[in-house]
Amino acid sequence: MESELILNLDQKKSLYNDGYVILRNVISTKVLSNSIEALKSHDHEFDKRLGYDSRMTDLINKSHLNSILDDVIGPFDAPTSCHVAVKEQTPPSNKINNIGYRDEDTPYFGSFLHMDGLCSINVPQDIQSGSDKQIYEKYIRSGPKGDLGHSAEVIGHNLVPLFQDPEKTLSLGSFTALVFVCLSPQTENGWGQTAVLTGAHHKTEEFFRWQRGKTGQIGPEGPDWPRLDYSAANRCGIKYLPDAVRDQFLDSSSEKTPDGRPWPKPTPILMEPGDACISTFHLPHTGTRNENGLESRKTVIFRIRNKTRQPNIVSDGYTDHPDRGLLGEWLDLGSEGNPWERSKDGICDMWADWSGMQKLVASVNY
Ligand SMILES: [Fe+2]
Repeated sequence: MESELILNLDQKKSLYNDGYVILRNVISTKVLSNSIEALKSHDHEFDKRLGYDSRMTDLINKSHLNSILDDVIGPFDAPTSCHVAVKEQTPPSNKINNIGYRDEDTPYFGSFLHMDGLCSINVPQDIQSGSDKQIYEKYIRSGPKGDLGHSAEVIGHNLVPLFQDPEKTLSLGSFTALVFVCLSPQTENGWGQTAVLTGAHHKTEEFFRWQRGKTGQIGPEGPDWPRLDYSAANRCGIKYLPDAVRDQFLDSSSEKTPDGRPWPKPTPILMEPGDACISTFHLPHTGTRNENGLESRKTVIFRIRNKTRQPNIVSDGYTDHPDRGLLGEWLDLGSEGNPWERSKDGICDMWADWSGMQKLVASVNY
């Protein structure tokens, strides 16, 4: 094991202000080459088994990221799984993406800024007709478990439940940090890298606090956040960001879809193999099209949660909805207090789960 590293004050300030910090060359040559070897050994079958390969989870467990996360977050479950995200080089397509527009019409290399933990049922490829209510009902019937009504049993094609809790007051899975490790050259915009809405984590947190104060509900279908965008090109796009957040990141330079609607410009995270980025759960982010990359884009994504948020359960490092099982199963979250309110507390106070940020946050706020 190499000597332990932690974030310095400037890096913590970046994390606080921007919502993310890029760590150059944080993965050792050996751990990096092992992970690339694992990718090759799966022979381009980028299936979920690869995410359980220890050569992948070693990207945190046997790298500087382990001590860095231990310092900045506090206790967390060592990842046993991760999301290996491989994107082949591809031209813009006419397929309708989940925000309800053709990929080729969507600005910033097909960006769809979102937070993780949001239910995504694949949207229809044809233009919907009928009332908004009819479109909504048809949409939630089309999930992988079929017609279960308006219920917390419904899950998306991304396996995230429509609602986290049985009372349907929380429609957002949550964790602490999104960590993505770069395994292929991603140094130019349009090479398939993750992009983020810099600084927007403060705005999402503020919005969640406002929602909770208003009705106690957080996420889509809570106050001022309809789940679907009926004005999208297909009349059934997923509204991944509430308008109140999105509107704060629009200006006259924002690129538009053909219907004249402007979209926030994300910042591409430019990295080389062996670099990694730590971002807060609250920071909206997006995949982008690998239009011009030199090879397939390879990124390994981890979702890390401070253990004290829900001590009764083990987070595997992959799931973005750890309060439920991967397929929406109900878990024993313990009998102490209301576990759903505990998750809401974390969503409304993001830095509470970052024990290594407490001093800095206190100095900024007072
Ligand atoms: Fe995501």
